[in-house]
Amino acid sequence: MKKESIDLHVMWHIDVLLQAYPVTIVTTVNKKGILNAAPYSLVLPYCSSPKNPQMLLIVNKTWHTAKNIVETGEFVLNYPGAGQVKDIVETSRYYDDGVNELEYTEFTTMASNHVKPPRITECYQHVECRVIRTEKPSNLQLNFIAEVLDISQDQGLYDLGRVERAKKVSAPAYLGVDEEQHHVFGEIRNICAEEIDLFF
Ligand SMILES: Cc1cc2nc3c(=O)[nH]c(=O)nc-3n(C[C@H](O)[C@H](O)[C@H](O)COP(=O)(O)O)c2cc1C
Repeated sequence: MKKESIDLHVMWHIDVLLQAYPVTIVTTVNKKGILNAAPYSLVLPYCSSPKNPQMLLIVNKTWHTAKNIVETGEFVLNYPGAGQVKDIVETSRYYDDGVNELEYTEFTTMASNHVKPPRITECYQHVECRVIRTEKPSNLQLNFIAEVLDISQDQGLYDLGRVERAKKVSAPAYLGVDEEQHHVFGEIRNICAEEIDLFF
């Protein structure tokens, strides 16, 4: 197979790279306590030690989410299911500062255990985070590295095996933006376990 190199443009990752991204809805509050919610896919476990669990969240610095996190240092990652894609997209629309996007969705909230931003009740899992370091890889981007204060999820979920858990929550896959500027989502339907030799 011949290969070709590609020119990169703004937001190249959601056009050029073809792998699936996870979907979270990030809840934050501003210093007056007003709630903001928006979807974020550039979210990764940053430190895998259980003694020092950390997450990385990558945000365009002009978004309300970034401004709120800079103001308060706190955010919650809420993980929705694939059946909630319409409401996920609803939270991505641009509203004026101080508008709570969740009011345009079926989502409701409940208090978090350790931080001011609430959890989204209808999401299956929540990661409560406090920022410990912020990196600025470009003049448009803020990379928040945050300690994980708490992970909570729907009761009973952790009792299921890994495959059953994955099937039950049916996490959506974000596949970027198409030529008409529509967000593209997928759903993982074929989940199975393959035997391997574990090294660790
Ligand atoms: C599924 C999905 C994932 C997204 N992931 C990111 C991301 O990781 N980083 C980012 O800066 N914007 C991301 N966006 C764009 C923001 O969610 C969007 O621009 C939103 O309006 C920002 O809202 P806010 O100003 O209330 O924070 C994503 C959008 C969608 C639909």
